[in-house]
Amino acid sequence: MVSAVIHTARQKFPSIHRPLDSVMTMTGFHRINDHLCVDGIRLDAIAAEFGTPLYVYSAAAITANYQAMKAVFAGPNKQIHYAMKANSNLAILKLMQTLRAAVDIVSIGEFERALAAGFTPQQMVFSGVGKTRDELQQAMAADIGQINAESQAEVETIIALAKQNGQKPAVALRINPDIKAGGHAKISTGSSDTKFGIAGHLASDIYIQMAESGVIRPAGLAVHIGSQIMDCSGFIAAWKYMLQLADRLVADGYAVPGLDLGGGIGIDYATGETADLNAFGEAITSVFENRGYHLAIEPGRSMVAEAGCLISQVINVKTTEDKRFVIVDGAMNDLIRPTLYEAFHRITPLTSPPSTTLSNVLPADIVGPVCETGDYLGLKRDLPKVAANDLIAVMSAGAYGAAMRSNYNTRPMAAEVMVINGTPHRISKPQQISDLLAMDIIPTALDVV
Ligand code: LLP
Repeated sequence: MVSAVIHTARQKFPSIHRPLDSVMTMTGFHRINDHLCVDGIRLDAIAAEFGTPLYVYSAAAITANYQAMKAVFAGPNKQIHYAMKANSNLAILKLMQTLRAAVDIVSIGEFERALAAGFTPQQMVFSGVGKTRDELQQAMAADIGQINAESQAEVETIIALAKQNGQKPAVALRINPDIKAGGHAKISTGSSDTKFGIAGHLASDIYIQMAESGVIRPAGLAVHIGSQIMDCSGFIAAWKYMLQLADRLVADGYAVPGLDLGGGIGIDYATGETADLNAFGEAITSVFENRGYHLAIEPGRSMVAEAGCLISQVINVKTTEDKRFVIVDGAMNDLIRPTLYEAFHRITPLTSPPSTTLSNVLPADIVGPVCETGDYLGLKRDLPKVAANDLIAVMSAGAYGAAMRSNYNTRPMAAEVMVINGTPHRISKPQQISDLLAMDIIPTALDVV
C-alpha cells in the first residue's frame, strides 16, 4: 500500500491568486482602501442590497480558475468534467457550460440540474457508489456519456438493465488503488477500507465480464482518491496503478479508450492560494504523455472555492470570562465545513484597515445562532474589534458551502449572488419560512389522537 496523506503543503503550491489584502487585481476578492470587494465592487454594498447571510461568487474568478486548469490540461483528447457537487447552482453550471466544461454527476438530481443548465447527457460522467436502478435506467435511457461503475454488483445490474432495455451504455470501472490521500479522513476515498471503487486485483476480471457481455461499451478506468489533496505524489501513485491495469487489459486485447483521473486538487484555505496547477499538469504529463488514452479530470473545489465567500452580519458580541464570542447570522446550516471537517476558513471584517494594528485585534470564536456548541465558523481567531451590525466575510466558501446548506433550526437557506461583468446578480431565491412550513404535512389522522 502506498501512503500519501498530505494535509497542507503550502510551500509546494505557489500562488496563482492574490492575497486577500492585495489591490493588484480586480478579479476575485481584494481590498480597496478599507473595503473588501469582489471584482472591484464593495461587498458591504452587495450585502445591503441582498441581505445576509449571503453567498457571493465572482464569475470572473471561476472563469480564471477554469482557464488555468485548461491551460495545464490542454490537448485534443482531454476533457475537464466539473464535479458539480462542489457547487451545483444553475448559474454556476451555466457558466461552466459556456466555458465548454463537461460535468461529473452523482445523482439523477444532478443529472436534471446539468440538463437544465444546458449540458447534454453525453457530456456527463455518472459517478457514485450507490446509483439506484431507477437512476441507472434514466441515465441509460438518455445515453449518458459514461457511467463509472464501482462494484461487480453494479456492473451486473447495468448489464441486466441494458439487456432488458436493448441498450449499450458506455461504462468505466472506478478502481480503488489503496492509496490514502486528502485533507480529512471523511473526504479520503482511495484506500481499501473505504466504500469506493473496485480493488485492483478484481478489476480486470470485472472489466472482461463487462467487455464480453455484448451490451456494454467498455469506456476505460477511473480513479478518485480523495479531496483537498495538496501534493501530487498520491495522484501519481494512483494514476500509475490505473495505467498498469489499463495497459494489461490492452495487452490482453480489450479496448480501454479512456482514463478518468478524478478530482481532488486542493486549495490553501489559510492563504487563499490555489494549489499549483502547473505541478498537477506536469504530473499528468509525466504519467500519461504519448500513451494514447483519452483523459478526463473531475475537479470541483479548485474551480469554485476561492471564487466565493459567505457574508454574514454580527448580531451581538458576547464576552465571557474566558472568551469573546462574535455571534453572527450565518451558521453551521449555511456552512458546515468548519464543524464537519474541522475546516479552516479565513474570516475578515468587510471594513477594516488592511494592516490592522495589534491593539485592536482580539481572539474570538465566530459562532452562529444554532443551538449546538459545534455551530461555529471559526474558533480562536484574531479578529479586529467588531460590533452588532458589522459585516464579516468567510472566505474560500464557493465549494461545498451553499451545496451543503440545510434548513436546520428552520433557518431559511442563505441566498446566492454572482458578480458578472461588474454587476451582482441574484442566482438563488431567498427562501421564506413559509416555504419551509409548506414542505410538511399534518395528516388529518392526527385530529383524532
Ligand atoms: N470526482 C469524484 C468521484 C468525487 O467524489 C469528488 C468529490 C470529485 C470528483 C471532486 O473532488 P474535488 O475536486 O472537489 O476535491 N464536502 C467535502 C468534499 C467532498 C468531496 C466529495 N467528492 C468538503 O467540503 O471538503
